[in-house]
Amino acid sequence: MTTSTNGKFDRRPLIAGNWKMNLDHVQGITFLQKLAWTLDDAGHDHSRVEVSVFPPFTDLRGVQTLVKGDDLSVVFGGQDLSPKDSGAYTGDISGQFLSRLGCTYVLVGHSERRTIHQETDEVLNEKVHAAYRHSLVPVLCVGEGLEVRQAGAHVEHTLEQVRRGVAGLDRAQAADLVIAYEPVWAIGTGEVAGPDDAQEMCAAIRAELGTLFDTETGAKVRLLYGGSVKAASAASILRERDVDGVLVGGASLDVSEFASIVRFEQHLGTD
Ligand code: 13P
Repeated sequence: MTTSTNGKFDRRPLIAGNWKMNLDHVQGITFLQKLAWTLDDAGHDHSRVEVSVFPPFTDLRGVQTLVKGDDLSVVFGGQDLSPKDSGAYTGDISGQFLSRLGCTYVLVGHSERRTIHQETDEVLNEKVHAAYRHSLVPVLCVGEGLEVRQAGAHVEHTLEQVRRGVAGLDRAQAADLVIAYEPVWAIGTGEVAGPDDAQEMCAAIRAELGTLFDTETGAKVRLLYGGSVKAASAASILRERDVDGVLVGGASLDVSEFASIVRFEQHLGTD
């Protein structure tokens, strides 16, 4: 494996666990404690690979207390945020609240939000801007459904989501961004995209960001793959040049499986 200026190893890998609507506030704390112990026991170096969890909103205060109290190196984020900052928006959560709870990241536009809650690219762009207003790093999720993939239109479809999602950002904001490529057909299906598929899309996204902003900015953005990632498949995806991390659903709910994904470098081999 080769290194280069502004290449893969200038971007700190991010291994992210999206708990979705799993683990209540008690289960979440127990889980996170076990994860931290497992990673400590394995001698995990957090300065090399960043670990973030995305618990349900109701877990966040407990997660914050644990992370602070035990000085854990794990960071955390919300699974969604409102495009608005405050007011009469029943059921919504402001980025300001997430920020005050110590969140580093916030997911924006997960396919389950796009599908179940009919979130459009326009609303998601507002959410991306709302995240920056409150010093949160958005993890913008993009990706095509099966029909689009079968029609061979997956790259253009996904790049359009990226273009609309990042509209109006300045270069500094764009450079901080995380984008997760999650093909909908691979989410929760056990059907993982091949490393070549992940690389093809991540390279296309990076090139597009280079065009929209500049090459240096494109080279700084961290790109994740998500969709049925398991310990057995993580390393082969993460060795791809433009893939800087993974966003894990089901396998992030199993401590040893997720810890093994975090420690993917052990499985990279010596090429
Ligand atoms: P699975 O890993 O369960 O397929 O979920 C992926 C995902 O949606 C992460 O955000």
